[in-house]
Amino acid sequence: MENRISARERIELLLDRGTFVEIDKHVIHRCTDFGLDSKHPEGDGVISGYGKIDGRIVFVYAFDFAVMGGSLSAANAQKIAKVQDLALSNGAPIIGLNDSGGARIQEGIESLTGFAHIFKRNVMASGVIPQISAILGPCAGGSCYSPALTDFILMVKETSQMFVTGPNVVKSVTNEDVDKETLGGASVHNSVSGVSHFFCNNDEDAMMTIRELIGFIPSNNMEDAPVHPVTDEVNRICSELDEVVPVDPNIPYDIRNIIEPVCDQQYFFEIQSDFAKNIVIGFGRMAGRTVGFVANQPNYLAGSLDIDASDKAARFIRFCDCFNIPLIAIEDVPGFLPGVGQEHNGIIRHGAKIVYAFAEATVPKITLITRKAYGGAYIVMNSKQIGSDVNLAYPTAEIAVMGAEGACNLLYRKASPEERKEKIEEYRQKFANPNRAAQLGYVDDIIQPRDPRASLIKALEMTRNKNQSNPPKKHGNMPL
Ligand code: HXC
Repeated sequence: MENRISARERIELLLDRGTFVEIDKHVIHRCTDFGLDSKHPEGDGVISGYGKIDGRIVFVYAFDFAVMGGSLSAANAQKIAKVQDLALSNGAPIIGLNDSGGARIQEGIESLTGFAHIFKRNVMASGVIPQISAILGPCAGGSCYSPALTDFILMVKETSQMFVTGPNVVKSVTNEDVDKETLGGASVHNSVSGVSHFFCNNDEDAMMTIRELIGFIPSNNMEDAPVHPVTDEVNRICSELDEVVPVDPNIPYDIRNIIEPVCDQQYFFEIQSDFAKNIVIGFGRMAGRTVGFVANQPNYLAGSLDIDASDKAARFIRFCDCFNIPLIAIEDVPGFLPGVGQEHNGIIRHGAKIVYAFAEATVPKITLITRKAYGGAYIVMNSKQIGSDVNLAYPTAEIAVMGAEGACNLLYRKASPEERKEKIEEYRQKFANPNRAAQLGYVDDIIQPRDPRASLIKALEMTRNKNQSNPPKKHGNMPL
């Protein structure tokens, strides 16, 4: 399959066969300047309407790059705003297929006004209906900011780019020579900037990824995610998990080797897999129901929390909370990443987002501690003390202010090496296990590594009807 196909072909691939109903296909632009009075393509470069994904209604609009570079006219904006309004009033997801050079230059303020109307609707729909944006060609200016206001962005290898200003403007302002792909290609936005959530191989891959994503989430904030038939043994013993966490706390492992076995059919749908790899986020199903996983990744930066990991996790936690998706935190975290760069770029401000997001979330919240749960990172990773409903720990869990060596090197700086060794052992005995936390009730149970699937499903069942609300307010003031 070609990487880049037409707007209509994209819609055909995205929706269940034969379900697309087009709206406004006769609309034309109203501009008479710069030669546009003689050029009136029907539909004016946006195809919009509704259809179904796995039998569920979704609204869709797709920019047609073949019509003046997919640029946004006032008429196009009106068409998009119409489906945005319909999606919001009918409680259905909206999907934008973007391939657009931004505001139509010939229309001036009228096209800017169009973007303003779209942005305003993106914001009003946020947290009410899921909004998904695929970037399928070079997208500039407003065609980046509308996607940026939505919940998930998908980009395609080599054919899609996002930038606020293109290479020519960059050259004239900063004298930097950069091509479109280097400036804002799919690799950059999936691994460096964190703007994009999915890296797709071609347009078809992007459409299939959207279909799959829709399958994990509800149509609006008043509904639950679709429930699938339970075809995997709920009490399945995961004996492969006995070997995953290494005995030596300094040896890394892949946290996905714990997430996957606990999910139905061992299937985990990872999101933002190339960005801030020290934290893993994504959806799985447990006993047929969608769960959002947030897990430290010991394989990368020892699973420590840094600025990017905090942003990534907080936004995902808030998505799940908006859309009634229970959260499971899987924890193996040595702390926040130390460093001048981290401090100067605001790890305090960014790290605060995770604690804010977990603490305000009212969906069922469950934590499984597999190994390290140190210091502030212990608290923010959905600790009991900030509101988790059920906390479980492996026997290998270490719940302490810091690791035994670090602690005793600080406390017994002046002691002889032998004395310090003794103290390290004493500290290890006391805190390098989950016993103290369990005695105090901060851990509800210590479970065997092979048992988390059954235990987590029981916790999810117990919390299914959780009904909690935060104090009434206009909105909180989350650190941003
Ligand atoms: C009118 C446009 C257009 C635009 C492209 N075209 N962008 N027409 N308004 N914004 C037209 C081109 O003139 C060309 O017409 C055809 O679409 C294809 O464009 P190409 O440049 O040949 O394609 P390509 O080389 O692939 O480059 C794509 C591009 C580039 C990177 C998107 O066209 C570009 O830089 N366009 C301008 C981007 C931009 O600055 N937009 C305004 C952003 S400000 P012909 O007739 O030759 O086929 C904005 C305001 C909101 O959006 C900001 C809110 C924050």
